[in-house]
Amino acid sequence: MSNNRPIGVFDSGLGGLTVVKELNKLLPFEDIVYFGDTGRVPYGNRSIDTIKRYAAEDENFLLSQDVKAIIAACGTVSSVATDVSKKLPIPFFEVVSHASKMACETTVNKKIGVIGTSATIKSGKHKEYILKFLPHAEIVCQSCPLFVPLVEEGWYSADDIVVEETIKRYLEPMIKAGVDTLILGCTHYPVLEDAISKVLGDGVKLINAGTATAKAVLEFLEKEDMLKGEGQGNIDFFVSDKADSFRHQASILLGREIDDSKVKTVSL
Ligand code: DGL
Repeated sequence: MSNNRPIGVFDSGLGGLTVVKELNKLLPFEDIVYFGDTGRVPYGNRSIDTIKRYAAEDENFLLSQDVKAIIAACGTVSSVATDVSKKLPIPFFEVVSHASKMACETTVNKKIGVIGTSATIKSGKHKEYILKFLPHAEIVCQSCPLFVPLVEEGWYSADDIVVEETIKRYLEPMIKAGVDTLILGCTHYPVLEDAISKVLGDGVKLINAGTATAKAVLEFLEKEDMLKGEGQGNIDFFVSDKADSFRHQASILLGREIDDSKVKTVSL
């Protein structure tokens, strides 16, 4: 028995699209309902109570769209607000555990870097998972609060001097410690992947939480017989503000033109 209902994905803004991109690669037949809370981005420098309230509202919106599973495509929500999701009546996926596991499977020198929003790094969630999978790992953590506004503004070219200098300053501790694997602990960060690689060099493997999570979603839906499994997937986008600029950036990030009619503004 298959399940043809869509998968619900949410983030504070554009970042969750990096997860959608990976879902599209592994599960191209699945329909997706995406919610980007563009009216309240960023989440990462807010209090835990506020992030939990936002996460609950985002999840309720997706439930109202009759989705079959929800993915918090947001490192911040995945780090500090997963207790909210325990009450959900459908399967829920976060992005922290899968990325941490993938980093442990990737590192050779057992030196792992983690970058994320202030709330994510303060939560210590990645560290907790990494030490569970690899108890003797050396972990270097760094919050990079300027990365999200750069991405939301569309400033992510590897040739942009502002982008390069910002990355250099934040990632200095990673270079000094000699990490060979870096978890992009915020879903906005894979957008900066080329620019980060330019600074760190090919010797450092970047872990995209979307890749790790999409794999986990595929395995789960397969096991539970919940895949749609055929046809071409459709994506409906919902945002809480600035639908036009979201549509423009999303078309670039997903590499295909998104029609006006596909992005709707909702208030939660
Ligand atoms: N993309 C999100 C994350 O993964 C949210 C960033 C933010 O809103 O601060 O953390």
